Amino acid sequence: MQTAATWDRRGASRAFVDTNVVIQPLAAADLPAVRSLLVDLPVAYPGAEAWLRRRLQDCLAGRARCMIAATADDVVGVTILTPKSLATKLSTIYVRPDFRRTHLGSRLLDQVLQDASRWAPRDAQGEIYVTIAHQTWGQLERLLSSRGFTRTAFESNRYGRGRHEIVATRLG
Ligand SMILES: CC(C)(COP(=O)(O)OP(=O)(O)OC[C@H]1O[C@@H](n2cnc3c(N)ncnc32)[C@H](O)[C@@H]1OP(=O)(O)O)[C@@H](O)C(=O)NCCC(=O)NCCS
Repeated sequence: MQTAATWDRRGASRAFVDTNVVIQPLAAADLPAVRSLLVDLPVAYPGAEAWLRRRLQDCLAGRARCMIAATADDVVGVTILTPKSLATKLSTIYVRPDFRRTHLGSRLLDQVLQDASRWAPRDAQGEIYVTIAHQTWGQLERLLSSRGFTRTAFESNRYGRGRHEIVATRLG
């Protein structure tokens, strides 16, 4: 496959934008690739495997929104947006390691923010939040803060002893 990658003027040598990565809604045929992309999720989030199965079904049934970042051959990024009672939850944002630092996470999050108003419950007033295992926070902090999220809560031992949870919120 020929890749139309362009070097980003802002970035150093590791930063390039792969213009062939397309962001699109999840289709049933993408399920195996999404599951395989998120195979390590249960390491940080106990019970994530069953949770993911349910959530992806919700997405296909129109109860939640999953967007994938796809190359011609594979799924390399994913987001899941879930309406809750008073806010919209960004349930997952994940980019395959070899595609990181190419602005793909930023593109996916911008798409989430674009979609959020359509997926928000009536009383959400534009609020979006995300819960993150504390060991992953360092990877997500810059991305989330650049899009207006701030750290709003911390729960000790949420995912087991010594495995804490951080909540980041973006007000509408
Ligand atoms: C967080 C994540 C989505 C970022 O994806 P990405 O494609 O690398 O993001 P971008 O290239 O758009 O970078 C966005 C910003 O984050 C910064 N960043 C990216 N990775 C980082 C890291 N590991 N540490 C610190 N900052 C980082 C970038 O420098 C950039 O900031 P800048 O524009 O000020 O330079 C990706 O690292 C990831 O998927 N991590 C795992 C997340 C996870 O476990 N999700 C499941 C639970 S929600």
